[in-house]
Amino acid sequence: MLFVCLGNICRSPLAEGIFAAQVSEAGLSDHFDIDSAGTGSWHAGQLPDARMRETARGHGTTLVSRARQFVPGDFSEFDHILVMDRSNQSDVLASPGAESGADRVQLFRDYDPEPGDGQVPDPYYGGSEGFETVYSMVERTSSRLLAELTEQYDLSAG
Ligand code: 4NP
Repeated sequence: MLFVCLGNICRSPLAEGIFAAQVSEAGLSDHFDIDSAGTGSWHAGQLPDARMRETARGHGTTLVSRARQFVPGDFSEFDHILVMDRSNQSDVLASPGAESGADRVQLFRDYDPEPGDGQVPDPYYGGSEGFETVYSMVERTSSRLLAELTEQYDLSAG
């Protein structure tokens, strides 16, 4: 499971952290390889944005991953590549190797149980309420994603 956004310091590391916590809670960690990446490289090596980490910490989620750029090898490494918005989607699909992996790329919010425009808005340039909005959106979407995959792959704990 690879979550992808632009900088890999706000949305995708949040999705990675929340999904990993939900998978762990469900006792399914052995079944998933969970990571995140950015289509851009500016923040490679950095921890998530301090505002994103603070918001997540307020909900009991600690974000520890370091940013990295999406690489063509991710198409063969991950069965599911979940992008945060349509710009990420077109960037990923324009990467070398996309021919063989395009069917693995989906909008993350296709799993959102609430109606929306299919995209997780980038909170980077906005205020703190944007981070809270993104947190709840990612949390409910991640929860539905895990429920659907649990059924699709007939996973059960233990
Ligand atoms: P993210 O947010 O894609 O959710 O990590 C961004 C972080 C940094 C930049 C853009 C978006 N940036 O341009 O530096």
